[in-house]
Amino acid sequence: MEELEIVGQVVGGKTAELLIREKSGKKIELGDLLIAEEEGALLILQVYDLAYGSQVPQSTRELLAGLKLEGYGTELTFLEPELRNYVIAKAKAVARIEGKDVKVPKTLPRFFSYIRYITEKDLEFFTKPPNPVYVGKVRSGSKKLDVDVYLNGVDVFTHHVVIPATTGRGKSNLVKVMLWSILDQPNFGVLILDPHDEYYGRHGKGLKDSPYAKDSLIYYSSTPFPGTNTLIVNLRSILPSHFQGIVEFTDAQLDAIRSYYNRFEDEWIENIVRGTEVDGVAPRTLEVLQRKFYNVLGVYLDDDGNLQCRSKVFSDTAGQTTTKDIVNALEKGKKVIVDTSRLLDQAELLIGSIIVSEIFYRYQIYKSEGKLEDKPVVSIVIEEAPRVLGTDVLASLGENIYSTVAREGRKFKIGLIAITQLISLIPRQILANMNTKIILGNEMAVERKAIIDSAAQDLSEDDRTIASLDRGEAILSSSFTKFAVPVQIPLFEDYIKATIKAEKDKTIFVG
Ligand SMILES: Nc1ncnc2c1ncn2[C@@H]1O[C@H](COP(=O)(O)OP(=O)(O)O)[C@@H](O)[C@H]1O
Ligand SMILES: [Mg+2]
Repeated sequence: MEELEIVGQVVGGKTAELLIREKSGKKIELGDLLIAEEEGALLILQVYDLAYGSQVPQSTRELLAGLKLEGYGTELTFLEPELRNYVIAKAKAVARIEGKDVKVPKTLPRFFSYIRYITEKDLEFFTKPPNPVYVGKVRSGSKKLDVDVYLNGVDVFTHHVVIPATTGRGKSNLVKVMLWSILDQPNFGVLILDPHDEYYGRHGKGLKDSPYAKDSLIYYSSTPFPGTNTLIVNLRSILPSHFQGIVEFTDAQLDAIRSYYNRFEDEWIENIVRGTEVDGVAPRTLEVLQRKFYNVLGVYLDDDGNLQCRSKVFSDTAGQTTTKDIVNALEKGKKVIVDTSRLLDQAELLIGSIIVSEIFYRYQIYKSEGKLEDKPVVSIVIEEAPRVLGTDVLASLGENIYSTVAREGRKFKIGLIAITQLISLIPRQILANMNTKIILGNEMAVERKAIIDSAAQDLSEDDRTIASLDRGEAILSSSFTKFAVPVQIPLFEDYIKATIKAEKDKTIFVG
């Protein structure tokens, strides 16, 4: 057996604060995973703080530095400096491995235990689950280990995923990697509302480059290109309830909407836009509604009395089957990207609302008929999630379909993948329901606090670690992992090159 490098020794501390003296010449890093070996078990420790230790009084150290700096003797040094001055790492035990069992550690390592770096072999308990969703490789500090981290998508997606991080830390990249890894799996339907048009790969690499894209990826855009679909939503597929919690209406406006809906059914919006008079609706209210529909949907009457739409996305004639087609595809386990980059916020959320309401409705029925088991999990990727899950938004506009999914979706195999820079805006109670958090770097203390407070594991010592996470470095905290796993997410472009190559090699081998 190869000799494992000793990097330090336990010299004191307590449960969540083990003190490890670093061996001279070693460089223990913030976030490093270390191992203390026990009889029949391994204890995984994680470093969360570093400090100097010295046997020499501070005043003597200061004096010596002064002598050197001021040129009184550049040769001056301590006797046996590696013995007298050193680094003390603070670490916590995160897991106890006994064979294939991973447990929450309940004991301290032996006093004066030798400590070594973790190796791939220590992590053999990371196996590929069914319905695997790829997240990245286990990371020790900033060192990547060759150990893949997969989550069981059926568990994880139904219990919601939150991805909190400051802009530019790699949220979108992570979601692309995860989606790429499940594109061939019919057990998941995923709706991706894509306000930056970055997932399909219109310019550069994207999900379209997967060998499975042809069969399982569908792209809708208001500016489609050959082989893709035009995003046109027929006004008749919009119900008054789809606006719930997304667009604010006064009571008078809601009454008016009800009157139009009762009288014209699915032609209610057209008739409002056309200005058809209805008893009991004040002209002033009608006017306000027309202006609202113009602002949100961009629909108006042109001089010839034809209904027009600024963004061309809403129509009174075309697009009758769009939302049904999307829901059917999701129900077959396909991944559907809706490019909403040319839409205003509310229009994007409304289109999502139509689709998600329909899938929610259908899945409720399947459940009552006992047919839900055969259906794929449906997950919805939403950027800037506080737009629909924010405490303020919910207080002023009331619940919307996204918050309903966050609260109750699990029962119906529907989940959210919520991306946000500002997790602190989401109510705790909703966050507590979102069982997997993939935490990327964050420089905002308030956000880190909200992340730590709602995590599945105790991350109270990890504030500094989260602040120092580099691009693509993450902490995976989930009720489906035994401990908060530090991961290195690959750059999407590199990851797909590797998987495409692996796929090719496999084909050659089989053929
Ligand atoms: N895992 C990663 N490894 C290396 N670089 C990354 C990684 N994730 C993201 N990046 C780089 O950072 C940039 C921003 O990433 P992005 O996913 O768009 O961040 P966000 O969505 O959080 O704003 C990417 O264009 C890419 O160049
Ligand atoms: Mg992004």
